[in-house]
Amino acid sequence: GKSGYDHFMLKEIYEQPRALRQCLRGRIEEQTATVDIGDLGGLNPTGVQLVACGTSYHAAKYGAQLFRDAGVSAQALLAHEYATAPPPIGNDLVVGISQSGETADTLSALREARRRGARTLTVTNTVGSTMDRECDHTLYIRSGPEIGVAATKTFAGQLTALNLLSLATSEGSNKRRTVVPALRDLAGHVQRILDSSAASTVAEQYDDAESYFFIGRGYQHPVALEGALKLKEISYEHAEGFAAGELKHGSLALVDENTPVFAIVVGDGEKAQKTVGNIKEVEARDAPVVAVTDGQSDAERYADHVLTIPESRPRTAAVLANVQLQLVAYHVADRLGRSIDKPRNLAKSVTVE
Ligand code: F6R
Repeated sequence: GKSGYDHFMLKEIYEQPRALRQCLRGRIEEQTATVDIGDLGGLNPTGVQLVACGTSYHAAKYGAQLFRDAGVSAQALLAHEYATAPPPIGNDLVVGISQSGETADTLSALREARRRGARTLTVTNTVGSTMDRECDHTLYIRSGPEIGVAATKTFAGQLTALNLLSLATSEGSNKRRTVVPALRDLAGHVQRILDSSAASTVAEQYDDAESYFFIGRGYQHPVALEGALKLKEISYEHAEGFAAGELKHGSLALVDENTPVFAIVVGDGEKAQKTVGNIKEVEARDAPVVAVTDGQSDAERYADHVLTIPESRPRTAAVLANVQLQLVAYHVADRLGRSIDKPRNLAKSVTVE
């Protein structure tokens, strides 16, 4: 049942601390800064193709960035466009990311990869699913059952599991020494957000907006895309996510006082400063700005509202910022009286191509 929550989606958003602990259990060891995902740690890919659809594709984009940052050539590919991708070569690993393990588009991309001779791995929540059975390797995200059609805790699980995969196969000990503690802190940080989020106040302010924009750079770009998808999917309102720097290349023309812009700003480095610059651009067009930030930069000074996240590494901050955006989507949809757990036209598992 919903354990007292109005919707499965809200219950599953609140289950994230537990789901993340479960994902990490027995897999990270802080004293030694090691990651143990069994045989998968020995995969040593020279290149990685990550294939997926929808929310899982956003996780794929994030995962590709993890590998690229580790010096491994990696690409996120929409599963239904896999035929147009250059074929995997040599020791390439093709990673299919799928909560259900049954999505037809992703399954057919993985089968194509196998035909081309590549090794395949699935990052999935579903033990015994078709992908689990057909792929050479599986990394379970261990999120527990997800009933709401909108993926929430499983997206957090996918991002976390992809960190384990890149750390175990491709990242060095220096990286592990900083990232392992950040992973360990993740569940507690998510809990802090759940206990204190201002997302329902923000939703109240903007539930009649014309359109919602989400911007972020680097690891926050897939989160911006996911924030927009979640809002569209359950509120039926128009939303778009952008790489922050892309807005001024056309879409800025749409921005006015009726288009709230959610800007994810993490840390105070060059990326953060550039995104603050993008905030100033939309502010100059009278757009309301909601900063999702750890308060390290001066983003708050230019924002109408702030959704605070604890300080973390950029890659783990992505999981935290996403929780705030999940809550915004949920509260906007709830205020509009939408069918949150079963949005119109959508199915939990898409088993046709
Ligand atoms: C959105 C959502 C979908 C799925 C997509 C892939 O909330 O849930 O975009 O992410 O249909 O599904 P899986 O991960 O089962 O392959």
